[in-house]
Amino acid sequence: MTIHAIAFDAYGTLFDVYSIGALAEKLFPENGKALAELWRAKQIEYSQLRTLCSTYKPFWEVTQDALIFACKKLQLDLSFDAQNSLMGQYAKLQPFPENLSVLQQLKDMDLKLAILSNGNPQMLDAVVKAAGMQGLFNHILSVDAVKKFKTAPEAYQLAPDVFGLSARNILFVSSNCWDACGATWFGYSTFWVNRSAAPLEELGVAPHAEGRSLTDLLDYVKTHR
Ligand code: LAC
Repeated sequence: MTIHAIAFDAYGTLFDVYSIGALAEKLFPENGKALAELWRAKQIEYSQLRTLCSTYKPFWEVTQDALIFACKKLQLDLSFDAQNSLMGQYAKLQPFPENLSVLQQLKDMDLKLAILSNGNPQMLDAVVKAAGMQGLFNHILSVDAVKKFKTAPEAYQLAPDVFGLSARNILFVSSNCWDACGATWFGYSTFWVNRSAAPLEELGVAPHAEGRSLTDLLDYVKTHR
């Protein structure tokens, strides 16, 4: 396998979706962690349901819907101001600490880099800018172009199309095991950034490689060029 390009999932992989927990904790003492986790789980569930039922709407709105549900479920009173500040924070999520340097090193190795995300273009532009990652990616690909979220094949097809490469020559990198498995089924070479040492999903498929951070990804790529 020769890797010519890398496509990164965004949320959870490049940007820390749980970094929002601190603000959530300030707004809802003792519930910050639970809210951050349920919010994320519902966001993914809604994206998958909407793809199954062909009822796409932009990920920003899906994210907002998930926040409202998560607060109702946890019996937290979500004021208009609290909703705005949590969504505002989501627009500029923190990147994981090693990411900028690893992305720069991958770029210096002449690899083509892309983001391939469920996020709609506006929210991706905002989070990339806030993290100072402009200029690192050749393409920022949003599933909004096909109106289907991952794991739909049409969504995964965006990177091979734009790079003019077959999926197996592109390394797809995600911290979400379901996403790394979906991409493996699709035909990508895959790397699972298993940040929380989670067990492999029981899907009868496994990503081709696994590490704990983007630093592990860098080591892997150096030996697979
Ligand atoms: C994304 C979500 C799934 O960035 O993390 O596509």
